Amino acid sequence: MAAGWYATALLLPRLRRCVSTMPCQLLRCDPASITFNASGEPNFTADATRDALSIASHHLVALKRPVVFPTETVYGLGALALDGTAASLIFSTKGRPADNPLIVHVSSMSMLRSILPPDYTLSKTYEALIKHFWPGPLTMLFPRHADIIPNIITAGQSTIAVRMPSHPVARALIAVANAPLAAPSANSSGKPSPTRAEHVHRDLGDKVDIILDGGPCGVGLESTVVDGLGADGHLRVLRPGGVTVEDLQRTLHQELHASGDMPRVLVHRRDYRDDAMELAPTTPGMKYKHYSPSVPVVLVHTLTSPPEGMQLQTAASLVSSLRDRFPDRPVHIGLMTPDDSRLAQLLHGHEGVSWRLFPLGKVTQPAVIAQRLFDGFLTLDREGVDVILIEGVAEVDEGLAIMNRVRKAAGEAAWVSL
Ligand code: TXA
Ligand code: MG
Repeated sequence: MAAGWYATALLLPRLRRCVSTMPCQLLRCDPASITFNASGEPNFTADATRDALSIASHHLVALKRPVVFPTETVYGLGALALDGTAASLIFSTKGRPADNPLIVHVSSMSMLRSILPPDYTLSKTYEALIKHFWPGPLTMLFPRHADIIPNIITAGQSTIAVRMPSHPVARALIAVANAPLAAPSANSSGKPSPTRAEHVHRDLGDKVDIILDGGPCGVGLESTVVDGLGADGHLRVLRPGGVTVEDLQRTLHQELHASGDMPRVLVHRRDYRDDAMELAPTTPGMKYKHYSPSVPVVLVHTLTSPPEGMQLQTAASLVSSLRDRFPDRPVHIGLMTPDDSRLAQLLHGHEGVSWRLFPLGKVTQPAVIAQRLFDGFLTLDREGVDVILIEGVAEVDEGLAIMNRVRKAAGEAAWVSL
């Protein structure tokens, strides 16, 4: 008894540090009730939203504890970016490796300037990108101001990743807290990013105190991460995301073509490789497992031929190979395809299989597919399917970011003839 009490007394303070002692509060915020003036200060027409943001801000600033908030891309787990102790709770809550740097979120240009080195000036390329894509789903690398940015934020890098989110709740929270917030996606490390408050609640509900519920995220995939700091002036896309490569190219052409100083937009692994960088965790999603539901995901290619060593198969042979994995019972397969998919038609039927369809939207609207992708993974996972099949899409526009995430989520790939 005494020994038991002693152990509990010793352990409790430690447990408190990593597991929240309060029940998680889900606070509803209405994005439509928030507007911003020219200097980025928010105005509220709904008291409940104003109150929720002031509770969350107190939590961040006074208690120095993380808060979950919606952004236009995915839900984020935010903490004070300029306070290393507050930011460290992000890592323990997510189970995130300490060498994976965080994105810092700002609500205004003056806040951006306050965290950059005083002698740093924006390049023409960055000015053009900020003008067109901020606030919005574009993250840019800047030089790190070593005097004020804690090491834990950048994982010791000489650069810092920054974005200004466009979601009114995210931007208002940063403005009310009057502090830049470091925020990765609000999921346990390795899992798909949450696009609804209930996704976060299910995954991290016993580890966080406050989730601001601003409804489903509009973009559904994380921000595009770009590096324009290289000596050659080109813009390197480290992670495709909410802003498409085509959008970046169009904008830079429009803004900089006349000056004769047009940077190229280079996509990592498509247009260039950097072996040293690939071994470092700073290349988003390269070193660590990402976006994986707990059930196996099979990426089904229907638009490309198989690489050497892989067979082109029929839809029927794919289904029978999955059925063989569960010889004693019917197999429950989650199927994520565009609405108008020929693959879905071919897969239908087959004895010993029950299907759970999660339609992704029209193939001609990749932005809709992007918005539904993580919701599909998380919904099918929760419903307990045995395996998820997801059909590949063309790697143009949002399709590039979709396939980047799907490849990382999928443990296997199959090529099926239609
Ligand atoms: O849309 C988003 O970007 C969401 C929302 C919450 O804003 N955030 C997000 O954060 O996706 P996270 O931590 O899941 O992904 C951030 C990625 C990391 O994979 C990291 O490698 C990269 O950004 N990153 C951060 N700082 C970097 C740096 N200094 N150099 C290169 N990559 C960096
Ligand atoms: Mg993430």
